[in-house]
Amino acid sequence: MSASATTAPPIKVGVKPLFSTWIYLCENGPIHLNDRLEELAHRLMQDDRNATRRTNAGGWHYAFDLFKLDEPLVAEFRNQMEQHVRAFLNHFRPPERKKQDSFKLEGWINVNRAGHSNVLHCHPGCFLSATYYVKVPANMKGGEIVFRDPRGPAVAMYETPGIELPWVGNGTGLPFNPATGHLILFPSWLEHRVERFEGEGERISIAFNATNP
Ligand SMILES: [Fe+2]
Repeated sequence: MSASATTAPPIKVGVKPLFSTWIYLCENGPIHLNDRLEELAHRLMQDDRNATRRTNAGGWHYAFDLFKLDEPLVAEFRNQMEQHVRAFLNHFRPPERKKQDSFKLEGWINVNRAGHSNVLHCHPGCFLSATYYVKVPANMKGGEIVFRDPRGPAVAMYETPGIELPWVGNGTGLPFNPATGHLILFPSWLEHRVERFEGEGERISIAFNATNP
């Protein structure tokens, strides 16, 4: 062994992720409000003027801002959701920088039944978006929310036969199978879609955006 080989400094190498995408998952949101939220959805659905078409392929989509309804139930739900948004924002801060952020929520109700879905989209004009699942049938087939991998064509780089690349996925994104009471918060720029719903009953969710007040 040569003298230079024995005295060479160790090679320093680091492997670390860049540009991670953060999702907030809560499995037990305000389920004590679910029955009343479902009643509210059904009450609003009785008036055709309350329905609109946005990202929904079929299904019922509330046309207005849910949080503008002057009802104690809505206020209680908003309060719960604000606490989750604040928890998500504070998660990334050291103790001395945690605070109670001010923001505005805008929300709407989605009711999907068999055959319904939501096309790929993101939520411009806001910083965080969310979905709370008021009701998910236990035997639901499909109905997943699928987040598209934001790394563009990287996840479809199959042209490296024999070399496995850790960033190559299936190109279709990451599905989450929601259940009643689940809450998902995600950055508003993250594209997502909802898969076709098959099965009995209704899949009721409340989606909302957080914006500057
Ligand atoms: Fe959405």
